[in-house]
Amino acid sequence: MRLIQHKKEAYWFYRFLSIFYDKLVNPLFWTKRMRDESLELGRLNEPGIRVIDVGSGTGFTTEGIVRHVPADKVTCVDQSPHQMARAKQKPALQACAFQLGDAENIPFATDEFDRYVSAGSIEYWPNPQQGINEAYRVIKPGGLALMIGPLEPENALARFIANTWMLFPKEEEYLHWFREAGFQDIQVRYIKPHWVNGRGEYGISVAGVKPKAGISPAAGRVEVVEPSQKMSPGRWLQLIGRLLIGSLAGFLFIPAALFGYVRNIFSDKQKGAPEEYRERLNAYQITVLLAIGLLIGWVIYRFI
Ligand SMILES: C[S@@+](CC[C@H](N)C(=O)[O-])C[C@H]1O[C@@H](n2cnc3c(N)ncnc32)[C@H](O)[C@@H]1O
Repeated sequence: MRLIQHKKEAYWFYRFLSIFYDKLVNPLFWTKRMRDESLELGRLNEPGIRVIDVGSGTGFTTEGIVRHVPADKVTCVDQSPHQMARAKQKPALQACAFQLGDAENIPFATDEFDRYVSAGSIEYWPNPQQGINEAYRVIKPGGLALMIGPLEPENALARFIANTWMLFPKEEEYLHWFREAGFQDIQVRYIKPHWVNGRGEYGISVAGVKPKAGISPAAGRVEVVEPSQKMSPGRWLQLIGRLLIGSLAGFLFIPAALFGYVRNIFSDKQKGAPEEYRERLNAYQITVLLAIGLLIGWVIYRFI
């Protein structure tokens, strides 16, 4: 079903989500520790490199990149002006270049950057192979692309909700897309917030090296199905329906994460973790948690 895996739907989804993305949602699912561990695969410490961050959003991952690379060597691309406006306000990102654009048709020349990074964006791309071919195209020979994204949940209910919302690829799919695009020396790393229990993996970062100059060998082979962007009244109705149901599916993960954080308080999983990597609820998240608690209490009192 994957209701938000569409450029128009993703645009409107982030039109609203950008308002509370940094304060409420993002820290629950994509933590500083996960970000910094993922970026280790990106070999960002080489001097003089230029980095493109695609689907850069509000700049959370970019803030991790500029810990290693001077900000004036980093270019951010996103299709959402609302997300990008928030990134532009961040002090550490003042010297970055910002460009609105599509991950599946990146508005930069072939062989231009030394590193490509994309975190948590592939879920919304209608043609992930095309996006990864573009990652290949924009980096120089010997350059490295790093894709960070979610993995399909093992639990059947979580999988159903996730797949209603957007794309949660399997590890084999990421690897297939990277190999098809022409990447070599492919490496993976798994990532998970502390609050997530269970044996299954949660997210992955995949890195690959571009062996030779030019476009991806898969560029001509892949049939790109570009969803229609024409907005008839019927399409608007469809978009609103997809947005409402898709967002509802996505938001169901918020209470799950909030309760996971509370459970964390009683576990020793974070023992010894550096202060900046400790997962704690902030005031916004505590407010939402209390509101959910009150709602559940009221339903029990009123109906049971
Ligand atoms: C979950 S956010 C991730 C933002 C950021 N990378 C981070 O780590 O917080 C996903 C971002 O991907 C962007 N996005 C979705 N589809 C896109 C596309 N086709 N081209 C460019 N950006 C896209 C969204 O606008 C959104 O800002």
